[in-house]
Amino acid sequence: MTEQAWLPHGVDAHTPTDARVHDYALGGKDNYAVDRRYAQKLLAALPAIGRPAVENEKFAQRAIRSLLSTGVRQFLEIGCGLPRRPDVHDMTGPEARVVYVDYDPVAVVHFQAVLSGNGSAAAIHADVTRPGQILSHPLVTEFIDFEQPACLLMTYLFQLITDEDDPARILREFREALAPGSHLVLSHATHEGMSPAQAEALYEIFEELREPVTLRGRDEIGRLFDGFELLDPGLVFAPEWRPDRPYPTPTEMVLAGVGRKR
Ligand SMILES: C[S@@+](CC[C@H](N)C(=O)[O-])C[C@H]1O[C@@H](n2cnc3c(N)ncnc32)[C@H](O)[C@@H]1O
Repeated sequence: MTEQAWLPHGVDAHTPTDARVHDYALGGKDNYAVDRRYAQKLLAALPAIGRPAVENEKFAQRAIRSLLSTGVRQFLEIGCGLPRRPDVHDMTGPEARVVYVDYDPVAVVHFQAVLSGNGSAAAIHADVTRPGQILSHPLVTEFIDFEQPACLLMTYLFQLITDEDDPARILREFREALAPGSHLVLSHATHEGMSPAQAEALYEIFEELREPVTLRGRDEIGRLFDGFELLDPGLVFAPEWRPDRPYPTPTEMVLAGVGRKR
């Protein structure tokens, strides 16, 4: 994407946004120079920690495959970011229903373009801090039957939600709408395993991002699964969740888990 004069309403090409930085970190092309400069600075500060965006994506794919094998056929992905291959609908096939949600207009416009003519997947622009607006959105109620088990995907999202916006309250509102047997796939950036100096250096870089970032610890992240039973192997660094290949040392920075609503 180039910094052309024409930009969709609400798109700021002068401040890095998480969705576009994440796209760059995953090798995507839907980002601006300002996002690439920020991402390079961030990745340079992370060599000891690994490649969190990549390990997070691989975790999400393993979790989706694992749930598909148990018969899950409805997916609501919030904080979906920009399209990447394979996305959830590429993995599920047309018999499943998928709704993508993001508050970044660039992410949503790209998903809507990719999904044009697709009768089993849709993308909407909405903010996770307002669960009621998502749960009552006409496309969500058309695609997702909340009387039946569904999968709520919230990967690498909640570090962008401040304590003020109360992640536990957000999760509670979504959990209450889900049928028993539904799943929560969640990953979160963490300061576990970092020295205070490393964390401080990262927070200095995060200052430039449009969204404030809050790294959280294992206990706080674990509490986001309240009301869900964590499936094996529990809340672990992303590469440790049901690995399908050997890894030398776990990439730190991302804690990940899958819970099942009781
Ligand atoms: C790090 S990316 C993760 C993308 C994808 N879930 C993944 O795991 O690869 C976080 C995404 O969350 C979105 N996001 C941040 N705050 C949000 C909010 N309040 N409501 C909806 N989406 C949000 C960002 O725009 C970005 O696309």
